[in-house]
Amino acid sequence: MTKDAAFWDRFAPKYAGMKLRNPAAYEQTLDEVRGHLSPGDHVLEHGCGTGSTALRLAGDVADYTAADFAQGMIDIAEAKRRAAGVENLSFLTAGIDDPRFRDSPRDVVLAFSLLHLLPDLGAALEAIRGQVRPGGLFISKTICVAEMPVWVPPVLAVMRVFGRAPYLHRYSGAQIEAAIARAGFDIVTSRIFGDVRYARFIVARRKA
Ligand SMILES: C[S@@+](CC[C@H](N)C(=O)[O-])C[C@H]1O[C@@H](n2cnc3c(N)ncnc32)[C@H](O)[C@@H]1O
Repeated sequence: MTKDAAFWDRFAPKYAGMKLRNPAAYEQTLDEVRGHLSPGDHVLEHGCGTGSTALRLAGDVADYTAADFAQGMIDIAEAKRRAAGVENLSFLTAGIDDPRFRDSPRDVVLAFSLLHLLPDLGAALEAIRGQVRPGGLFISKTICVAEMPVWVPPVLAVMRVFGRAPYLHRYSGAQIEAAIARAGFDIVTSRIFGDVRYARFIVARRKA
């Protein structure tokens, strides 16, 4: 297990109990994502954490696979799924480039609060491109550390030394957009919700 996977595995119970920082912005994000989903869609979500978003969106599509590389996250997500009785949702312990995702391109691939955590963003987006059918969508919301107050990165660096934070890349919204476009997508939407300026929401369509 990588150092980052071990961090998220350890952090899972605490993450499950954390309150949303901006519930209104989260609801707006869900509404916007729903606007891009259809009842017949086959959906894959990466870095699903404890599955809260998957449980909110699965009812809007035909089937929904939600994956995370931290077993601790998936255990909690699966317990929530069973309690809620959601049948068209499967949780899977898997990284982004897991070979099981190669053979069945999805209509929509989702990634929330994930891209800024990845050691090789280009390789991850390349893998994601192969998981979206031509003309299908990749939808992400990414923390852009470059757009956070200047005191945040040094605080995060100290927290990481003490095992209290994962590594976060210092991307700007424009850099995330450019990386997604380079991987073979057209940007359909790029926006923020409410006053959360550092959380960039992007909808991108895979080129044929
Ligand atoms: C900040 S949490 C976000 C969780 C959830 N998407 C949300 O919005 O609440 C990041 C999640 O991504 C997962 N993660 C980080 N790197 C990953 C990778 N390379 N492959 C799969 N999951 C990853 C972590 O285990 C963690 O659950």
